[in-house]
Amino acid sequence: MRRLVAETTLTPNDFILPLFVREGIDEPVPIASLPGVDQHSRASLVDAVADAVAVGVNAVVLFGVPLEKDERGSGAWDPAGIVQLALADLRDRFGDEIVLMGDLCVDEYTSHGHCGVLNDRGEVDNDPTIELYQQIAIAQATAGADVVAPSGMMDGQVAAIRSALDGDGFTDVSILAYAAKYASSMYGPFRDAVDVTIADGGDRKGYQQDFRNSREALEEVHLDIIEGADMVMVKPATLYLDVVSQVRAETRLPVAAYHVSGEYAMLKAAAANGWIDGDLATIETLTAIKRAGADMTLTYLATDASRLLNS
Ligand code: PBG
Repeated sequence: MRRLVAETTLTPNDFILPLFVREGIDEPVPIASLPGVDQHSRASLVDAVADAVAVGVNAVVLFGVPLEKDERGSGAWDPAGIVQLALADLRDRFGDEIVLMGDLCVDEYTSHGHCGVLNDRGEVDNDPTIELYQQIAIAQATAGADVVAPSGMMDGQVAAIRSALDGDGFTDVSILAYAAKYASSMYGPFRDAVDVTIADGGDRKGYQQDFRNSREALEEVHLDIIEGADMVMVKPATLYLDVVSQVRAETRLPVAAYHVSGEYAMLKAAAANGWIDGDLATIETLTAIKRAGADMTLTYLATDASRLLNS
């Protein structure tokens, strides 16, 4: 009876698995603050995706860890950059079986760790940055991405990326906009995963959202939709379920939520100590995100949760 009247049913189709691929390694490197998550080599990445596909996950989003970083983050749009190579590997191996997404940003590739180029006052310069984002979009689309996911929170980024993609004939590459992305304490383990330290003790409050605000998030979502986003994302997820539900009410587009590294790490740490039941917490957490209104969840739990759902 409970199954019959359940309002929310989780399936592996709800998940997008974020994966890290690192240049210049032959074996996967575990990430201490993200237990169970690795920086992958090109080969181990393909294996990780095969494991995910085997349990029903059909979408992945890639983050790159380059060997060299520079002021502008040029590895992000280099045709031989690690994410471009990895996208091509996955497209070759899995064909149309999976949805391939590229996180579109420069922070993994810049020496200062910011999501854009800096002006002479050391602040992120919006307009030159979105020109770089256009180049990344083309590079990822050329390498085989179905979806580009701009995460840098620059103003006008979605419109700029849409026009660059269309101009190069990539009219059917979609944009998943990180629309309401908060300047959050929950990204700590991710920055270990991509070897990013923001220079001079800096933060992203100049371009990400203030956690005290939710109207502002709706405005950001609205702008991204007008600019041509195909799907909009709220990030993080569990601390912002109110925002997920407000965004759901605001748009008919698909809504995504990102269960981020810190949210994952807290769950895993408590489970490892035996303080909570990890499997139960996994399903409850992901169900709550869906119940709040997310059509899809980016989660490091994707493969494990799918295994649980199938068993
Ligand atoms: C930026 C980006 C970040 C995350 C995804 N894209 C980090 C940041 O904004 O500092 C965080 C994801 C996570 O914590 O799991 N390219």
